[in-house]
Amino acid sequence: MKIVVVGSLNMDLVVRMPQIPRPGETLLGGVFKTFPGGKGANQAVAAARLGASVMMVGCIGNDAFGREMRETLTREGVDTMHVLVHPQSLTGVALIQVDAAGQNSIAVASGANFELTSTDVEKAMLSIGNFDVLVMPLETPLETIYTAARIASRIGAKVILNPAPAQLLKQDLLEFVDVLLPNEYEAALMTGSPSLQSVADVCNAAQKLLLLKAKNLIVTMGNRGAMLFDGKTESQIPACPVQAVDSTAAGDCFVGALAVGLCEGKSLLSAAEFASAAAAISVTRDGAQPSLPRREEVIQFMNDRSKPK
Ligand code: RIB
Repeated sequence: MKIVVVGSLNMDLVVRMPQIPRPGETLLGGVFKTFPGGKGANQAVAAARLGASVMMVGCIGNDAFGREMRETLTREGVDTMHVLVHPQSLTGVALIQVDAAGQNSIAVASGANFELTSTDVEKAMLSIGNFDVLVMPLETPLETIYTAARIASRIGAKVILNPAPAQLLKQDLLEFVDVLLPNEYEAALMTGSPSLQSVADVCNAAQKLLLLKAKNLIVTMGNRGAMLFDGKTESQIPACPVQAVDSTAAGDCFVGALAVGLCEGKSLLSAAEFASAAAAISVTRDGAQPSLPRREEVIQFMNDRSKPK
C-alpha cells in the first residue's frame, strides 16, 4: 500500500502555558519545546507508523530546521526523495501555544512550503508512478494541490483533501476529491456558517460541501467525534474519550490513519473508526509527530474499547 503526501513541513516551536495569552497580554510561566511538524509531514509520519509505504512531496529551506525535518522523516521510514530544497527560503516554522486543556493556537511562517510549484509536483508524481492514495492539506500553493489531485485521479488513486487551514475551494478541484476531511471550524468557514453547534448544523454544512462535488465528506469535531457523509447516508463516529494533553496534529493523525485504512480496503466508515482511535491516542501526548501512534497501539486501544465494561 503506497501513499503519497503532497504537503508542508514545519518546525514547531511550542510554548505550553496554563492559558493562551489574549492580544496585548504577556504571560509568564511557559515551557518551551520544539517538535517536527507541518500538516503534510505529520500526515506522512502518521501513515508510516501505521504501516504504509509513504512518499513525501514538499519543500524545505537550506537550513538546520530543514535538515532536521528530512532526517526525522527518513528515520520514520518516509521516502524524502521528492522533498526539495529551496536555496533562498527558510524552512516553514509554526509558533504554537498549548493551554492546560490541550487546546492550541498556531501561527505559521510557511517559508519554503510555498515555493513548491506545480512543475515540481508533476515531476515528482511522474517519477513515483502508481500509488493508492494521495493525501493533501492546504499548506502549499493551491495550484500544486490541483495538479496533484488531477494526476492522482488520472491514475485511479484515491484523493483525500484535508482543507486545513480552510479556504474556499472550487468545484473543479473538489470533483477530483474522494474524501474531503475538514474539522468543524474549517467546514463552517468553507460554508460561510458562523459555527457548527449541533448535528443539524453539521448536516447543513455537509449538504453545501457535497453540492461542490466532493464524493465523500468527513467532518471531525474533536471530543464530539466525527460525522461521515457519502452523498446518500450519514453516520456518526462517536468520540473516544481520553485525557487530553495536546490536540496538535490530532487532525493530521486522523487523515494519515484514514489513508492507511482505505489503502487496506476498509470501508470508509471502518477506516474512519480506525482513524478516530488513532487520533484519540495522539491527543494524550505532547507535540505533533512524537504524539502519533503506531499500529499495534491503535489495535490494542480499539480492542480495549470493544471489551464489555
Ligand atoms: O496540524 C498541526 C500542524 O499545523 C503543526 O504541526 C504545525 O506545523 C501546523 O502546520
